[in-house]
Amino acid sequence: MRGDSPFSLFNAGSRFYDLMTAQRYWHRQVGRALDLAAPAMGELRVLDLGCGPGVSTFVLAERLGPRAELVGIDLAKQMIRRARNNQRRRFKRLENVRFEQADAGRLSFPDNSFDLALGHSFLYLVPDRPAVLREVQRILRPKGTLVLMEPNALGSLGQAALSSLDQLPAVMRNPWQAGRFATSMVLWRVVSARAGRLEASQLEGLFRDAGFGEVATHPTLGGLGLHCIGRKPA
Ligand SMILES: C[S@@+](CC[C@H](N)C(=O)[O-])C[C@H]1O[C@@H](n2cnc3c(N)ncnc32)[C@H](O)[C@@H]1O
Repeated sequence: MRGDSPFSLFNAGSRFYDLMTAQRYWHRQVGRALDLAAPAMGELRVLDLGCGPGVSTFVLAERLGPRAELVGIDLAKQMIRRARNNQRRRFKRLENVRFEQADAGRLSFPDNSFDLALGHSFLYLVPDRPAVLREVQRILRPKGTLVLMEPNALGSLGQAALSSLDQLPAVMRNPWQAGRFATSMVLWRVVSARAGRLEASQLEGLFRDAGFGEVATHPTLGGLGLHCIGRKPA
């Protein structure tokens, strides 16, 4: 994956990715990452790392309200184009959101300029993960929070399916949404197997090495994913 660049994949597949993830199960997942960060509501500056077509950024903006300012960044030009297009067509009311093409490993934002950074399914695609985490640490304010949701090296689709059996009745009521979600999970496993998934201890180690404190991980998506949270020391 590193040699043949994930960006060409995400550039070429931005429309398909948008179709797969613009649905309630994925929205709920993004909401869970925010619940974990539990930010005080108000005039927050929030960075969405690897925002893709904006799905995660729009969910965060809806939840955080108009006083928060959100910036979604992505390295893939087509993703940013699609995110801006989605904002114009479907989320015009979210005037507090903007998108920029940028590399999370080399951000142009000043030191201490964000309260919260989220990366929903993104770090696994990055070759130099320590550089990204150091950069996020730089742009966060003291006590600022980073939450990532990443594919879990120890997860399995079989286990995840078994642990979701109780949701079958709800799934049957929304077969189109559920089908898209299941497809996106299978593709996530395929792409992340090539890009390189992490175990909880590795993810936590990366956070600590970059200077984050209060680091903790929590399995999600039936064990297919991991939420990892850390805070910049005061
Ligand atoms: C799987 S998508 C996730 C999109 C969105 N956060 C979501 O939850 O649906 C990951 C995104 O990360 C972007 N990405 C990968 N490496 C990046 C980097 N170094 N800087 C910024 N974006 C990056 C990719 O282009 C891709 O659009």
